[in-house]
Amino acid sequence: MSNKERYPYPSWPQLYTHSQQLPTLVSLLAEDPDRVDHFSLEVGPLYLDYSKCHLDAPARDALWQLAEEAGLPAAIQRLLAGEHVNNTEQRPALHTALRSPSLSADDKNTIVAQTQAKVAEFVERLHTGAWLGYTGRAITDVVNIGIGGSDLGPRMVVTALSNYQAARPRVHFVANIDGADLSDQIANLNPETTLFIVASKSFSTLETRENALAARQWLQDSGCSQALLCQHFVAVSSNVPTAVEFGISEDNIFPMWDWVGGRYSLWSAIGLPIAIALGMKQFKELLAGAELMDTHFSQAPMAANMPVTLALLTFWYSAALNYQSQAILPYAQRLSRLPAYLQQLDMESLGKSVTVSGAPLADDSGLILWGTEGTNGQHSFHQLLHQGTRKVLVDFIACAQPMSVLDNHHTYLLANCIGQGQALLAGKSLAEAKAELLSAGKSPDEADRLAPHKVIPGNRPSNTLILDQLNPHSLGALIALYEHKVYCLGVLWNLNPFDQWGVELGKQLGAAVYPALTGQAIPETWDASTRALTERLQSNKQ
Ligand code: F6P
Repeated sequence: MSNKERYPYPSWPQLYTHSQQLPTLVSLLAEDPDRVDHFSLEVGPLYLDYSKCHLDAPARDALWQLAEEAGLPAAIQRLLAGEHVNNTEQRPALHTALRSPSLSADDKNTIVAQTQAKVAEFVERLHTGAWLGYTGRAITDVVNIGIGGSDLGPRMVVTALSNYQAARPRVHFVANIDGADLSDQIANLNPETTLFIVASKSFSTLETRENALAARQWLQDSGCSQALLCQHFVAVSSNVPTAVEFGISEDNIFPMWDWVGGRYSLWSAIGLPIAIALGMKQFKELLAGAELMDTHFSQAPMAANMPVTLALLTFWYSAALNYQSQAILPYAQRLSRLPAYLQQLDMESLGKSVTVSGAPLADDSGLILWGTEGTNGQHSFHQLLHQGTRKVLVDFIACAQPMSVLDNHHTYLLANCIGQGQALLAGKSLAEAKAELLSAGKSPDEADRLAPHKVIPGNRPSNTLILDQLNPHSLGALIALYEHKVYCLGVLWNLNPFDQWGVELGKQLGAAVYPALTGQAIPETWDASTRALTERLQSNKQ
């Protein structure tokens, strides 16, 4: 199939042709003195500058047209109205109902409100010291045991908003099946004053089950009786019977529902660690920030819609310009967990090979998403961004207000963020490199020899998102922005972003290797490499 035939949208062939004849970023910016005004958007606390992207006005108009042809406006309303957008599991994806009651189906409002009230009451008991451990002492530490969507969102938010944290109880996170994770987290904790949240939508996830069992054993070994274990365990799950079977009292189970996907669930009771760490007021601010973005997503026309714009840019770079990778670079230490959180949100949603009806996709789907906090990344992989041969779309995220009392640090931080975007855009030519070497006192021969190594191609794109301030409201809006961006890409690529069947096979095979590692015969049918690895680790273990 030729590039021009890859998408059924009438605008696509023309758009693809246009993509191959674009001016450089430097000339795009030079040609239109008002380009930044024309290629930026503002929604509440978020400002997006996408003027450093390879888009001229005709390409952007055609992308908006393509969004219409893909049925995006109607698809947005279908999502928000609770239609079965998750077609392989026949259910809605109503994470918006958790923060925007006005957008949701009525019957959801009551259970959401009841659950929030239950969360609020529990948080109050923890904060006032009314919730007691088995020896009658107040809880000082809460450990969230969960993985994937039951870990990454709450962990990212608690880290991002650490300056809002109440002194007690402290909140910790355990996810990995590597026992070192749990042991390291509880090493300095007192079982008498530690409470565990077992967070698992399915309550069947191996890592969470084994970590919860080990935590229960730790409490019992310290002298907690079976009867008083209920004072140290609560659960968040949509599988209440299995949580009860595990030994968690039904009163201590916070419900969630199949209409909330794991990676979209931090707004539900899965956000319990957030509510405990920050308090209910801040948790509700987080929801309000997301609601602001939901309302914008629902009401803004395609041309002024921030999530739609981000999605169209990614679509453009992937489909037309063959980009494979996207870097998330938050210039905010406290957003250090954002790339890991977005990896699950984006790659678990968009890493698909078939359309909603099961036909092979005609083009690549989700990009490889990665990143770390600036400026740390500058002293590491930015070399590849500036001089490597691969193409990476970059999202810079900065906060206008400082996040510490060290004001000068913040100015340096912002200067570096802006400087990186500028360097990606402008680069350094051979002539500039030579002139620089000569003025540094190098001989002409030496300057000729070294200059090619100092050339920076430039013409590399970046988006810059600026938050007024890193607070619960702006963070809620930022997360919802990326959630909706992912949904739009699902629509443009015509795939289901709400299932994740791809993770199941590895889980099944891992479960089958376990008995072999514990001494059972290794099946003859396994491939030679898997057999040899299992044998090696089996004998190391004994
Ligand atoms: O393995 C992937 C996954 O199914 C994610 O989608 C999910 O967020 C995570 O596991 C945890 O699932 P649960 O909350 O059911 O334990």
